Amino acid sequence: MGADAGLDGVVVAQTRLSDVDGEAGELVIAGESVEKLAARATFEQACALLWDEKSVDLGPARQAAFARLQGLGTALDAPDGMDALRAATAHLPQESTKAEITAAVGVFAAVWARRQHSLTLLPPDARLTHAADLLRMMRGEPAPEPLVRGLDAYLVTVTDHGMNASTFTARVIASTGSDLVSAVVGAIGALKGPLHGGAPGPVLDMLEAVGAAANAESWLGAELAAGRRIMGMGHRIYRVRDPRAAVLEKAVEGLEAAGFTTGRLTLARAVERAATQVLARRYPDRQLQANVEFYTAVLLDTLGLPRGAFTPAFAAGRTAGWVAHVDEQRRTGRLIRPASRYSRDPC
Ligand code: COA
Repeated sequence: MGADAGLDGVVVAQTRLSDVDGEAGELVIAGESVEKLAARATFEQACALLWDEKSVDLGPARQAAFARLQGLGTALDAPDGMDALRAATAHLPQESTKAEITAAVGVFAAVWARRQHSLTLLPPDARLTHAADLLRMMRGEPAPEPLVRGLDAYLVTVTDHGMNASTFTARVIASTGSDLVSAVVGAIGALKGPLHGGAPGPVLDMLEAVGAAANAESWLGAELAAGRRIMGMGHRIYRVRDPRAAVLEKAVEGLEAAGFTTGRLTLARAVERAATQVLARRYPDRQLQANVEFYTAVLLDTLGLPRGAFTPAFAAGRTAGWVAHVDEQRRTGRLIRPASRYSRDPC
């Protein structure tokens, strides 16, 4: 028996939370296409759908998270935002609710970003929506409405995505009967990796290194020749372009039309085209196209987030999905305990 190292295609849970069709390039979140949901919903509305609640208000929970900062010691001083999130989230009380944890991860991400640049912290304003308040806390001033819409579109788009690695991690932890905070802390650790949620910062590095469209093909070719992966390209499930790339690209377009631009969209599109071609030549039997991280980088940069805060922002959105999966796992799941094949040979 060979080992199925990547568990490709293995079904480990039944879920009502999201459905990924990798052949068609379609994503449904809580019964609605990602395109429609991202265009109409706030993050709180998406949480309500995922958590099967009438409405969700994260304001008081943001304030509660902020009130905990003093007790966190140096957790949020870690130079890596995901290390900081993991350490700070681990301080939350075990009995924390879905709303409390979800709000806290967003607040910790915003506070970490401010601290990294030695900027003063703004306490949360519970009257604002989650996206408006997180942007305000990160920028140090209220955010214009189009930027708030942009962050909402981002957070909604990344709330859930089938049995991705961090969600699986959360479900494995939940399946042992452990607590919600532990499940989220483990999931943060999984999301940190560059093959999962750690790619958008490097995507921006890549756009900067390429510099101009004319350099894209040779730069990308050299990366492949050196045995490196092109960040923001390829996906385990999608055999076509990740539908979330289109949603986020459209969000950037909307921001440009409203006068908010970094001027990177044109270059990003050229680099995406070149990367698709270079990868098609190298892997003719495999469709390697843009994934969610590609335009995450461009969108979050346009929103003014520092690149170290990109993956923490991903965590702030995905926590909504993680905590919903933990609920499902607890209701219907069985201890997740696969098998291994013993061999004396080194692996
Ligand atoms: N750049 C270069 N090569 C890539 C690649 C990329 N972005 N994505 C896949 N490949 C290569 C693999 O190395 C593999 O080559 P090999 O057979 O010589 O080892 C081949 O293409 C097939 O890979 P595949 O089975 O499609 O990849 P996977 O399912 O194991 O991995 C990812 C999926 C997402 C981890 C992978 O595409 C990747 O590393 N992408 C870059 C990181 C990224 O953007 N992560 C965010 C994901 S949302």
